[in-house]
Formats: sequence, C-alpha cells, structure tokens
Amino acid sequence: MKRLQGKVALITGASSGIGRASAKLFADEGATLGLMDIKTDEGEQIAAEITAAGGMAKFLNVDVTDGGRIETAVETFATDFGGIDILYNNAGGATPRDDHLLNMPLDEFDAAIALNLFGPFAACRSVIPHMAMRGGGSIINTASIRSMIGTVGADGYTSAKGGIVTLTMALAVQCAPKGIRVNAIAPGAVMTERVKALMSAGNDSGPDQAMIDKHLLGLGEPEMVAPAALFFACEDSRWVTGQILPVDGGASMN
Ligand SMILES: NC(=O)c1ccc[n+]([C@@H]2O[C@H](COP(=O)([O-])OP(=O)(O)OC[C@H]3O[C@@H](n4cnc5c(N)ncnc54)[C@H](O)[C@@H]3O)[C@@H](O)[C@H]2O)c1
Repeated sequence: MKRLQGKVALITGASSGIGRASAKLFADEGATLGLMDIKTDEGEQIAAEITAAGGMAKFLNVDVTDGGRIETAVETFATDFGGIDILYNNAGGATPRDDHLLNMPLDEFDAAIALNLFGPFAACRSVIPHMAMRGGGSIINTASIRSMIGTVGADGYTSAKGGIVTLTMALAVQCAPKGIRVNAIAPGAVMTERVKALMSAGNDSGPDQAMIDKHLLGLGEPEMVAPAALFFACEDSRWVTGQILPVDGGASMN
C-alpha cells in the first residue's frame, strides 16, 4: 500500500527545489496533489509529468502573500478533490536584499514576513476547517536551520522562520482536538538555484563558509528533505505533533 493513497495533499512553492521534489515523492506514494506557486510554466509542467505517470495533480498560480488567493485556491482544490488531508507549507526563502539588519532595507523585513510567515499562517487558516470536516489531517510547515541556532545575516527571513516554530507549536496544541497534526521541517543548506544565487550575492543573505562547514554530512539536495515531509504527511507519524525536525546534515548540533 502506498503511504499517501487516497490522500489529498496541497503543496505551496511546488515549482522548484524542495517543493518540486516533494510533489514527485508524494505522487509516487499515491497522493492527489494540489500544487501552488508563482512560477506557472514550471508548475504546470510538474502537474503534467505527474498526470502522465498515472498520478493526479492540478496546478494553480497562487502567491502565498495574498491571503484571498490562497483561500480561493484551497476552496477550488477542496471542491475538485472532495477534501484536503495534507498541507505542506513549503513556499519561502530569503532574497538577496535580506542581510544583517543594519545593512538591509527596512521594507525587506515586511517582504520576508509576508512570504515566510504570513503565507503559511493564511494557508493554515484556510485549510484547517477542511481538515476538521474530514476528521483530521497533517500540516507541515517549513522553518530553517536559521530558526534553530544563531546565524549571520538574512535577519528578516530568520525572524519569520522563528515565527514558524512557535506557530507550529501553538497550532499543534489547538488542532489536536480536531485530529490535525502540525509539525515543521528545519532544513540546513540545500543547494537549490535560489540558495546558489544567495551565496553569490556578496552579502550575508545566504549561508557563509562557517555555516557550510557545520554540515557534518555535507550540503543538502531537495531529495534529502522530501522524505521528511512524507514522514510527517503519512500515518507513520500519527503520534507526532508540534515537532520541529532539523533536516540539516547535522549542522544545528555542530
Ligand atoms: N534551500 C535551503 O537551503 C533552505 C534552507 C532552509 C529552509 N529552506 C526553506 O525551504 C523552502 C523551500 O526552499 P527551496 O530552497 O526549495 O526554494 P526554491 O526557491 O527552490 O523553491 C521555492 C518555491 O517557492 C516559490 N515561491 C516563491 N515565492 C512565492 C510566493 N509568494 N507564493 C508562492 N510561491 C512562491 C518559488 O517560485 C519556488 O518555486 C523555503 O521555505 C525555504 O525557506 C530552504
């Protein structure tokens, strides 16, 4: 039996990186997928690949900083698929403007919060009533190694990811009576195109050499994070809620 057979999973930021790898893994495990991103061509392409391989996936262009757009998309997926079981709040990331707080434009803080904290907050708000109607579900949020240890730079992003940790714990408590589990993954440095761009930005928006050196098992790839999302999505983690799981090659303990 596939681990997500019969389950409906929504993934934000599904057009590239960790979200894309997770969409493919969830599809392999039998999930029906509602994919969201601002990159339409790539998202449509992934949905088409999953469908061509015999799976079920639909893509919608959704900017997660727009709570109304999230709400509309969630209602569409719930209607089309008959309900929602899993939400993977993956969309996020720092930008090259995000740096040490003394060096970054102040409005970048608002942008970082909108993408990395408001987006997941709004998506949880839209999805929880649907999961409750189903008698339960699983929400997977995305924190960061920057929310587990003190790091250099990307201070707007770091602030937002810290909020994800406490939001995850609060929702775990509030949603347990509804049968909804809420956990988060805290990735270390994963070599997506976005992170490579940050590392060549010439500031502290990306991981510096000291951070890179902390990764006992080397730097990560998106396919190394996706199995952790699958664990939280499926019944293997049915007795786990409110946890923040570092998936970071040992960086947070080194
Ligand atoms: N890669 C890392 O080193 C790393 C480390 C820690 C945490 N994370 C977190 O993991 C998640 C995925 O990161 P990634 O490296 O795979 O990034 P990525 O840039 O490869 O993928 C993120 C996806 O989110 C989409 N996106 C961006 N803004 C959006 C918006 N407003 N609305 C909807 N979609 C939007 C992008 O188009 C992209 O497809 C992020 O939350 C990131 O903060 C990544």
